[in-house]
Amino acid sequence: MDFDIETNEKGNLSIGGTDAMELAKRYGTPLYVIDEEKIRNNYKRVYSAFSTHYKDIKIFYACKANTNLAVMRVLEQEGSGIDAVSPGEIYTALLAGFEPEGIIYTGNNVTDKELKFAAESGVIINLDSFSALHRLTRICDPNEIKISFRINPKVGAGHHEHCITGGELSKFGIMEEEAVEIYQRAVDMGYNIAGIHTHIGSGILDPEPFMLAVETLMDVAGRIHQEGNIDLEFIDFGGGLGIPYTPQEKKLDIQNFAKEITDLYKNKLNEYDLGKPTMCIEPGRYIVGDASILLTKVNTIKQSYRKFAGIDAGFNTLLRPSMYGSYHHIVVANKPDAENTQTIDIAGNICESGDLFARDRPMPEIKEGDLLAIFNAGAYAFSMSSQYNSRPKAMEVLVNNGESEVVRERETFADVLTNQNVPVRLLK
Ligand code: LLP
Repeated sequence: MDFDIETNEKGNLSIGGTDAMELAKRYGTPLYVIDEEKIRNNYKRVYSAFSTHYKDIKIFYACKANTNLAVMRVLEQEGSGIDAVSPGEIYTALLAGFEPEGIIYTGNNVTDKELKFAAESGVIINLDSFSALHRLTRICDPNEIKISFRINPKVGAGHHEHCITGGELSKFGIMEEEAVEIYQRAVDMGYNIAGIHTHIGSGILDPEPFMLAVETLMDVAGRIHQEGNIDLEFIDFGGGLGIPYTPQEKKLDIQNFAKEITDLYKNKLNEYDLGKPTMCIEPGRYIVGDASILLTKVNTIKQSYRKFAGIDAGFNTLLRPSMYGSYHHIVVANKPDAENTQTIDIAGNICESGDLFARDRPMPEIKEGDLLAIFNAGAYAFSMSSQYNSRPKAMEVLVNNGESEVVRERETFADVLTNQNVPVRLLK
């Protein structure tokens, strides 16, 4: 197994030096527990892997993975920038203390209002279509804005077809054949060109498609430089770095991955005389994915035609298993090392059959009242949660050095009802 399951002297699951059983007792469940040290270490590991081979590296943390303000503060302290996907994420990043120049906004199918918000915020605007370029030009002064373009390098990869964002079926990016044309048009309009960008998908454990995308983007950058006479300040390869979710999956060899990419990068810089632009990447999952666990209580053991353990979380709390069929490793928090003695379905509390965390999962004995810990719940977990079935969203705590702090209160029924208005005539 290529991820850590730590236990303490009581034999209970431990995270960030805290006892999972005690956290659940103190804060209730479902509870997201975020390990600060893990986030810092993940950031440092990826940064040093790349910067060993090329000094001028910038990481834009893809905050769609986890927008908790405390998580974002930690990453700001580490020196990260932000990949923001919406005005809401730009707003959150600014509030978390990121400088606008350290935020790259990669929207898609953006409205004029969103473009105006991004322009006024002073962030780098990464455009995805001719339409957005023309509309941006109508609402701002091109001289005052730094832009880049997202290119579709005709290669995509990802852990699920919904997570592949490059290739001919993808809605994202500019066709690589039109790249030179759109850059030239932007220069003619008076824009400051900041860089070039791609992002081919999410959850990639095989370096090969990523390398192909790097190669294609560098060739496109070369053409833009040579045919369009345009200098690039940065070249951004997006995110996508995967983490192991199943016990069989292996960790990405980040040292080797970084070396292969930077070697190719440097060769292509020379080949096209591109100078020394900043090399950027936008990991989300790699930085926060393994840093959280979701604690949830078993409230029902049910022997129907199959055996179910029913828990107090659902796909409203963690959508990935239902949405992508994703595997999340699950242990019993007071005996994380116990032998598996059965196979069981682990089902959520949402009124839909698809609300399953695991089917036929080998597990130790589970009783009602047991606490389960669902691993790798740091990325696309809370950030994709909802209030479906009128269930308030979960609480989040940050743990570090044996201490825990609430970084998001548990929602109440009132929060679920927020913003609704009942017309007075219906009150009679
Ligand atoms: N950059 C851009 C432009 C992106 O769209 C994304 C993710 C990233 C960076 C970060 O990708 P990462 O390093 O985290 O793989 N909800 C899905 C993942 C969707 C990813 C969307 N874009 C999941 O739960 O697997």
